[in-house]
Amino acid sequence: MTKILCIGAGYVGGPTMAVIAQNCPDVQVTVVDINPDRIAAWKSDTLPIYEPGLLEVVQSSRGRNLIFSTEVDQGIADADIIFVSVNTPTKTFGRGAGCAADLQYWEKTARQILENSTSDKIVVEKSTLPVRTARAMERILHSGDGNVHFEVLSNPEFLAEGTAITDLMDPDRILIGGHETETGQAAIEKLASIYAQWVPPEKILTTNVWSSELSKLTANAFLAQRISSINSIASVCEATEANVDEVSRAIGMDSRIGAKFLRASVGFGGSCFKKDILNLVYLCETYGLDEVADYWRQVVAMNSYQGERFVNRMISAMFNTIVGKRITLFGFAFKADTGDTRESPALTVSRQLLAERADVVITDPQALVNAAKDLNEDAVTYEQDPYEAAKGAHAIAVMTEWQQYRDLDFVRIHDSMVKPAFIFDGRNLLNHKELHEIGFNVYPIGKAALTHLE
Ligand code: UDX
Ligand code: UDX
Repeated sequence: MTKILCIGAGYVGGPTMAVIAQNCPDVQVTVVDINPDRIAAWKSDTLPIYEPGLLEVVQSSRGRNLIFSTEVDQGIADADIIFVSVNTPTKTFGRGAGCAADLQYWEKTARQILENSTSDKIVVEKSTLPVRTARAMERILHSGDGNVHFEVLSNPEFLAEGTAITDLMDPDRILIGGHETETGQAAIEKLASIYAQWVPPEKILTTNVWSSELSKLTANAFLAQRISSINSIASVCEATEANVDEVSRAIGMDSRIGAKFLRASVGFGGSCFKKDILNLVYLCETYGLDEVADYWRQVVAMNSYQGERFVNRMISAMFNTIVGKRITLFGFAFKADTGDTRESPALTVSRQLLAERADVVITDPQALVNAAKDLNEDAVTYEQDPYEAAKGAHAIAVMTEWQQYRDLDFVRIHDSMVKPAFIFDGRNLLNHKELHEIGFNVYPIGKAALTHLE
């Protein structure tokens, strides 16, 4: 029986291993983490992350061929294939601070693998990493006495949060990068044979290690670039009375451009886009490619600008002061169907509103616990019920595209608010015409405002 170990039971490691275990009953999958609370949660029916369909998948294999444990050393000793899925945040100190990846957990994990291995292992980079990290991993692994052979593969994960299970069950492609040596090719085949148990062979792509590492950074950079591009056009729309949704539809029908990822918004969030682009920027700078670095840095700059522009529009619409005004954020997660708030635009918007001394109220069906941790602000009110949250507010700002917000009774909400009542829709989620008819002053993204003000 093949034994897989995954180190790091986070948003990527947990769901990925649960799907492998469900599809490969003949493979034993063990997921370990240094955080015992996380492991305890994975063993319970209150999982540490919210992801539609995840609990059912976990329950289908847990205790059979899916095991959660804190025994990292033992797990390493037993495994044939080790996925490394620990976090690689942006460095906050020293060289490359604010840009380069912090690889301290990565290196520590490599050393731990070396110390506890007595049989040959395939080590799979699952975390997104700077290009050529596999080389550093190999150097550490090969610094031992040489009795054990380690083959390092790159196998980046492309799942998006909120749709992780469907993305894993039916991926666009599985990418496996390995060395062009005999042992490298054999390792690729072994890993490919696991995915082949549920993924059609034509979707399993193999490349060299560096192409695989770079493809992951490039995919995220391109996706983020599309959002920054459409958001830049949204600002032109607001100035010219063009409508960004109409522009998106018109350009998206060009098959060369494609319709996806053209939704204008208050900005992209999530743990990956900003971090991975900054990784790419740092890599370019390291190789002296300063113009290339500047090009990609601008995607991040445009995203920050979009959030600032959103808050500026709020302040100027509300008569240039929001001091003491109750402002309710509808949603705090970085996107719908997740409780994840990492790099959420709601975070920066909240901080700017607090700096202007507004009374900030936050409602979200899944993310209130994370929101309170992130903001760590006594001045903020957290309220599960959107009707209660909106009561007495001057303005609502939609931060997350939770579908349930579309079905709210906005007449009731309008009645309970201070007049004139404002809605700033950072996701173009709601029916703006209807809201205007109810009496709201409505400010969408990339469209003319609908107001009752002179
Ligand atoms: C992962 C990757 O780490 C990141 O590089 C990639 O871009 C996205 O996927 P994610 O799963 O979202 O990120 O991270 P997180 O939810 O923080 O999970 C990482 C887990 O690794 C945590 O539970 C943490 O406790 C664990 N960990 C960290 C270890 O088990 N050992 C360590 O040394 C460090
Ligand atoms: C992303 C990539 O999609 C995934 O392939 C990779 O593995 C990890 O990073 P994720 O961050 O989970 O996934 O979610 P995604 O759906 O890409 O959304 C990222 C952000 O962009 C969210 O804040 C989302 O609201 C925003 N977004 C997305 C837009 O503002 N407009 C769009 O058209 C699409």
